[in-house]
Amino acid sequence: MRGLLVFATLFVAALCRETFVGDKVLRIIPKNEAQLSFLKSMEDMPEIDVWRGVTEVGIPVDIRVPVQHLPVVKVHLQSQDIQHSTMIEDLQVLLDEEQEGMESAARFAEPRNTDSFDYSNYHTLSELHQNCVGAEPDSQTVASFQIYSFQDMLVAENPSLVSKIVIGQSYQGRALNVLKVREAGFLISSVRTEFSTGGSKRPAIWIDTGIHSREWVTQASGTWFAKKIVTDYGKDPALTAILNKMDIFLEIVTNPDGFYYTHNNNRMWRKTRKPNPGSSCVGVDPNRNWDAGFGGPGASGSPCSETYRGTRAHSESEVKSIVDFVKAHGNIKAFISIHSYSQMLLYPYGYTRTPVKEQAELHSLAKKAITDLASLYGTYYRYGSIINTIYQASGGTIDWTYNQGIKYSYTFELRDTGRYGFILPANQILPTARETWLALMTIMNHTFKNPY
Ligand SMILES: *[C@@H]1O[C@H](CO)[C@@H](O)[C@H](O)[C@H]1NC(C)=O
Ligand SMILES: [Zn+2]
Repeated sequence: MRGLLVFATLFVAALCRETFVGDKVLRIIPKNEAQLSFLKSMEDMPEIDVWRGVTEVGIPVDIRVPVQHLPVVKVHLQSQDIQHSTMIEDLQVLLDEEQEGMESAARFAEPRNTDSFDYSNYHTLSELHQNCVGAEPDSQTVASFQIYSFQDMLVAENPSLVSKIVIGQSYQGRALNVLKVREAGFLISSVRTEFSTGGSKRPAIWIDTGIHSREWVTQASGTWFAKKIVTDYGKDPALTAILNKMDIFLEIVTNPDGFYYTHNNNRMWRKTRKPNPGSSCVGVDPNRNWDAGFGGPGASGSPCSETYRGTRAHSESEVKSIVDFVKAHGNIKAFISIHSYSQMLLYPYGYTRTPVKEQAELHSLAKKAITDLASLYGTYYRYGSIINTIYQASGGTIDWTYNQGIKYSYTFELRDTGRYGFILPANQILPTARETWLALMTIMNHTFKNPY
């Protein structure tokens, strides 16, 4: 009965989902500066969706091209003698496979605890779905996420270690949940800790996943990290030592409206879901909306762009809620914001060429982290400052957190390098999460050993 219900809701949801039959993802490797700047100028073409932006000569650019726009885009490329290859032949084929995987997983009983949660699959909403007549659900009909139920289970199972904080609401009224991991014995030593750090709060590490909603392997990894932390606490001496002194905050679904939308309407959705006055295009890029070089090069002023910065810094409640939280906390020592794809570990800045003061330290820590990551399966990561490694991007998360005094500010771009891009098969979730965890531990351990 239960299985049937789940199947029925998935079926209903499928009816209002946008399809991508025949859409291709093209890969272009720019050969020279001229091609580079031509491709750069193509990035805001409404006909294409940039999966992996223009960086430098020899580094791939991936674009999704809807089937009806393929001729015009190909002509455009040919006009400049720019070669391309086809990375994904038919996007819908991958999406159907992804959906089948989720549906077969959903036919199993709802997990009763976090041990039986299926970490090796992507997860959708648990029960209530919008009906497909209306475009968007109102806040009354918003259902809880399976990931949200997971979070509540984890808290219930580990009441003295994990708690849930609601730091705000999304535009559509979904709770912005943050898991807080704090060792139970803390109360006894709190006075001493406060004296020693001078701050009113224990030093802390922040990790967020899913600020770009279509980057599904990030929310899936975040879920696994949460379980990993409670499993390893008390067993792994390094993590236990860290939690003896520091709190960990983990926001798994950082853009819940977008996440909901990727499941129910458009798998390729990246931005928030707030309407833009005077435009039919919805949403702001929550990684261009921060008050760090806001409005500068490397973000768009056009509401239809995937990198639209918004009308003002922190206009998005998903961003503002973190800003308020970080400021009120005042003692966050590492801030790690996790994206996909392209396998990179990046530190500030993105909006300016000025190197950060601790460039040498951040660079060598990044190198150590990606080396540890690669030790598991050999996954190769590039690393460096955002502006030197990818491109100039303004209004980004970790530029803001760094400017707030959080020295260890990093961004990950998880797997892969483009075979599947955002549609990373579910069988890569666990390997991705496991290897990333090694790099996270390296950064957290370094933060713990180098108090500032
Ligand atoms: C943590 O850092 C210390 C000092 O830098 C190092 O000796 C130790 O091996 C590290 N442990 C882990 C698990 O990374
Ligand atoms: Zn992203």
